[in-house]
Amino acid sequence: MRFQITNKKLSEIKADLELIFVVDKNLKHKFIKDEKAFKFANYKGESVLLLLESGRIYVPLNKLDYDELRIAAAKTYNAVKSLNVKSLKLASYVAGCQKMSFQALIEGFLLGAYEFNKYKEKKEKYALKDVIFSREEFSGEDVRENDAKDGFAHGEIIASATNFTKDVVNEIPEIYTPQKMAEEAQNLAKNYPNLSCKIYDEKFLEKEKMNAFLAVNKASVHPPRLIHLIYKPKGAKKRVIFVGKGLTYDSGGLSLKPADFMLTMKADKSGAAAAMGIIKGAAELNLPFEIHAILGATENMIGGNAYKPDDVLISRSGVSIEVRNTDAEGRLVLADCLSYAQDFKPDILIDMATLTGACVVGLGEYTSGIMGNNEELKAEFKAKAAKSGELNTILEFNPHLRELIKSQIADVSNTGSSRYGGAITAGLFLDKFIKDEFKDKWIHQDIAGPAYTEKAWGYNQAGATGAGVRMNLYYLCAMAKEL
Ligand code: BES
Ligand code: ZN
Ligand code: ZN
Repeated sequence: MRFQITNKKLSEIKADLELIFVVDKNLKHKFIKDEKAFKFANYKGESVLLLLESGRIYVPLNKLDYDELRIAAAKTYNAVKSLNVKSLKLASYVAGCQKMSFQALIEGFLLGAYEFNKYKEKKEKYALKDVIFSREEFSGEDVRENDAKDGFAHGEIIASATNFTKDVVNEIPEIYTPQKMAEEAQNLAKNYPNLSCKIYDEKFLEKEKMNAFLAVNKASVHPPRLIHLIYKPKGAKKRVIFVGKGLTYDSGGLSLKPADFMLTMKADKSGAAAAMGIIKGAAELNLPFEIHAILGATENMIGGNAYKPDDVLISRSGVSIEVRNTDAEGRLVLADCLSYAQDFKPDILIDMATLTGACVVGLGEYTSGIMGNNEELKAEFKAKAAKSGELNTILEFNPHLRELIKSQIADVSNTGSSRYGGAITAGLFLDKFIKDEFKDKWIHQDIAGPAYTEKAWGYNQAGATGAGVRMNLYYLCAMAKEL
């Protein structure tokens, strides 16, 4: 899709279809012209109305808000994609910041247009190619062309990073092995001059005493990979390290998941996939930070050589871990990856993981859990990520829950001793592996809910959503603006 903005009035632009967002449910605005047809169709502005004869499509926009713009754009795309509509024209709609409004719309179109059709015999070809904005604005604002163009550029980069992550997550476990993830990362590094990539195999993990990570991999026929991507622009101002859970499949291990819960566990690599998407986006946006993505890639499988409940693992940091459930494997991989990440002295350390079902139970399928020790950092993240439209909620640590991961035989247990508070006890487990000097610099993001969806919502199709990519890129962009 191509996006452009012109000085021409909406009525002067040539296009196959005119798009009007219905903001005012009284249907009173100078862009709204089909009152007769509305009466006929009993249209109240609550759904999409396509009027082929007048060449107009009306799409509801609940309010002028960035995420509503994304949703309305995606809705539009879905409504016209199977028509022979090659070009679409619309006015400008500003919800606060001009650049952000265009950016959100472009994200909505491009995220909404995503499809994972690799395994379908019939691949649909959609006609829509051109989206043309008029500088005529909904509320009469004077639209700055440069802001619109900046919005187009950023929107395209951020949507493309998100869609890249969706491709990684949607790919099937038979194909998307740890080795495949390593190749993908190397490929990224080849395509961007400021990116470099190091791949480490099981021998390195052994040398580094990453025994928690290695234990998870034991019963897999696919060897593990520690993937380290680095984006290093000249004169970088800060070092931000992302650590991603890259379980290319999580069967639960010997604490085997029931069949219904195992399905979708190809998505257990979503944290790592998001970290790759963020690095790709950061490189294209030329962000002024040194950004690392450290990915722990392995499967969690069963077999005679599988690690077991009752095992005690000595992690890279020296902390011993009692394994009480092999399905709490993500935190084991992350424990060693976080330990490795701190060797690189991050100014900000963020891990992303589809870590717990408890987080999904607690927050619902649409929201990520944000945890950490630094109240200010968490609040800052939340505020800066807000415009991305990704939902997140801060989950507070407390000393009572910390009690629950005590072990009688080791330094820490990999499960909480209570059925309750599982998202937070998992976060507290990770905290065991954060050194004092980084306690205040660390944020844990449990993306188990939104990373993968079995039904479409908002601008997300069924399948991977690319959770984590937008909220972190928006956070980084907002931070860059403050420099
Ligand atoms: N990958 C799962 C968490 C998950 C569940 C992600 C649902 C996405 C959707 C994780 O490895 C896991 O199985 N966690 C266990 C931990 C428990 C055994 C303490 C869980 O949440 O049940
Ligand atoms: Zn698991
Ligand atoms: Zn898992």
